[in-house]
Amino acid sequence: MSVAVPLVTVCAEGLSRRFGDFVAVDAISFEIRAGEIWGFLGPNGAGKSTAIRMLCGVLAPSSGRADVLGFDVARDPEAVKLRIGYMSQGSSLWNDLTVEEHLRFYAGMFEIYGRAQDKAVEEWMERVGLTGRRHELAGALPGGIRKRLALGCTLLHHPKVLFLDEPTAGVDPVSRREFWDLIAGLAEEGATVMVSTHYMDEAEHCNTLALIYSGRIIAQGTPEDLKRRPSAGITVEIPSHQSVAILDAIGALPFVLSSALYGSSVHVTLPRREDIDRLRRAVDESGFGAEGLSEIAPSLEDVFAALVSSA
Ligand SMILES: Nc1ncnc2c1ncn2[C@@H]1O[C@H](COP(=O)(O)OP(=O)(O)O)[C@@H](O)[C@H]1O
Ligand SMILES: [Mg+2]
Repeated sequence: MSVAVPLVTVCAEGLSRRFGDFVAVDAISFEIRAGEIWGFLGPNGAGKSTAIRMLCGVLAPSSGRADVLGFDVARDPEAVKLRIGYMSQGSSLWNDLTVEEHLRFYAGMFEIYGRAQDKAVEEWMERVGLTGRRHELAGALPGGIRKRLALGCTLLHHPKVLFLDEPTAGVDPVSRREFWDLIAGLAEEGATVMVSTHYMDEAEHCNTLALIYSGRIIAQGTPEDLKRRPSAGITVEIPSHQSVAILDAIGALPFVLSSALYGSSVHVTLPRREDIDRLRRAVDESGFGAEGLSEIAPSLEDVFAALVSSA
């Protein structure tokens, strides 16, 4: 039996963008397939929005190329814009328009009129859970609900590819979960979803991740692949009520790749398993107890910290 390989819907090759001498996006390459939730993970200023804006045909690349649904983003940006859904990081809503007025306005932009508009507006208002709020002004909606409205506005024309730029930034945890459920539903129906976030815990919702730092993709793969990467090093946990002092004492040790506080523990990334004993001795010599020190499975945050420190 042959297994159908999902179509590559988004493809970038050496895609770059400079602003003057500054390189905001530095030769990134990847392929995204239909039905995939592809997470773009990185701190503020890493280049996520700039990359997404190029893929949406909004910002011209300085070099390299990208295709979306077979259209070159630089040569045919209008064809790309018509076929995608783009939820930008800034607000795309007006405070003095209601929920329903927003959906109708965006439907009009995609030239969906008459009965088709009624149908699309009702369908997406329902899907994003806003039917009961149709007459409320966007300006009065809580943050998480505003984001759902913004998402609904990008879906009216049934785009096959969605670019969501930090859709959950500043949103409470319950609303974030609901948002990810919506995204999962869209991907199950076959949409390609490229979604950026700086919340490491959200990475687990993605099938594939690309970690971006200083404009460069420093790793990509499934969340499991990334945690297994040998270059991510060995993660060690030191539980202690003196975790802040321990962090101070070990941060500068030459064999420590990265270290960070996790509640009342310190997480340390080391290049090799052999370094665990060196670390234990160093913690002991600094006068702290190292009894609870043990190797743990790294979180994506640990992996990211280790990759950044060796980048
Ligand atoms: N229009 C612009 N002109 C100059 N610099 C820019 C412009 N847009 C973005 N940058 C810079 O490019 C870098 C990446 O920004 P951005 O893509 O917004 O990152 P992210 O979305 O990951 O936070 C930042 O240093 C930012 O200041
Ligand atoms: Mg951004």
